[in-house]
Amino acid sequence: MALPVVVDSEYLKEVDKARRDLRALIANRNCAPLMLRLAWHDAGTYDAKSKTGGPNGSIRNEEEFSHGSNNGLKKAIDFCEEVKEKHPKITYADLYQLAGVVAVEVTGGPTIDFVPGRKDSKVSPKEGRLPDAKQGVSHLRNIFYRMGLTDRDIVSLSGGHTLGRAHPERSGFDGPWTEDPLKFDNSYFVELLKGEYIGLLKLPTDKALLEDPEFRRYVELYAKDEDAFFRDYAEAHKKLSELGFVPS
Ligand code: HEM
Repeated sequence: MALPVVVDSEYLKEVDKARRDLRALIANRNCAPLMLRLAWHDAGTYDAKSKTGGPNGSIRNEEEFSHGSNNGLKKAIDFCEEVKEKHPKITYADLYQLAGVVAVEVTGGPTIDFVPGRKDSKVSPKEGRLPDAKQGVSHLRNIFYRMGLTDRDIVSLSGGHTLGRAHPERSGFDGPWTEDPLKFDNSYFVELLKGEYIGLLKLPTDKALLEDPEFRRYVELYAKDEDAFFRDYAEAHKKLSELGFVPS
């Protein structure tokens, strides 16, 4: 029996409408950073060897959203549910990745190519696949290489912290990375190179990007060349959003 085709012209129309609804919802609720973090945490569990985890909507399962690293994301899942109710055809996996792409776009970041067709999974990976902010260079490489991503991807994607802030009740960390946490720009890298700065956050994993020469090379490039950051970020974000996904 042939597998049902997820993406037909009807589906593409719904994706377009959902994109508009997400733009409005993100503007109304001021939740671009949380939506980007949701997309990243659904995708970032991917394991290239076993081909498990990844952007498959499994973060909606209580078993997964209650992992410590996902603290606070239930709110983003509930926001997306409002869009899902209006466009039930769209898979959760597509919806969460679309929300991430729209969050970057509406805050002034690069346009990220979005290809729909991801399938949903009810199977959640065990806790511990996402990076631990208290660790350093080798941990970052272990986690991102497991997904099949590169050093350049690690640094450009870390620039996602140009948006949002840490909340003590969620992660134990506190504060934004930049002066304007609702604007997607290269200020994360500019601030990182300035060193410790009162009021702005630097996680141990952020500081690790300065310690390793291969990482630091990209930090310096992105701090002085926002176009280079936007280009590499858009490419890395697309890769992240498509881990384990073969478009039909
Ligand atoms: C927030 C860790 C990579 C996007 C956070 C927080 C931590 C964290 C601890 C604070 C959560 C809270 O208290 O609310 C890490 C670590 C990473 C990483 C260790 C490893 C490199 C990424 C990537 C992206 C991203 C790749 C997206 C491309 C965000 C955003 C927020 C955030 C947008 C702000 C959420 C909000 O304002 O509610 N991250 N992150 N992070 N992260 Fe990351």
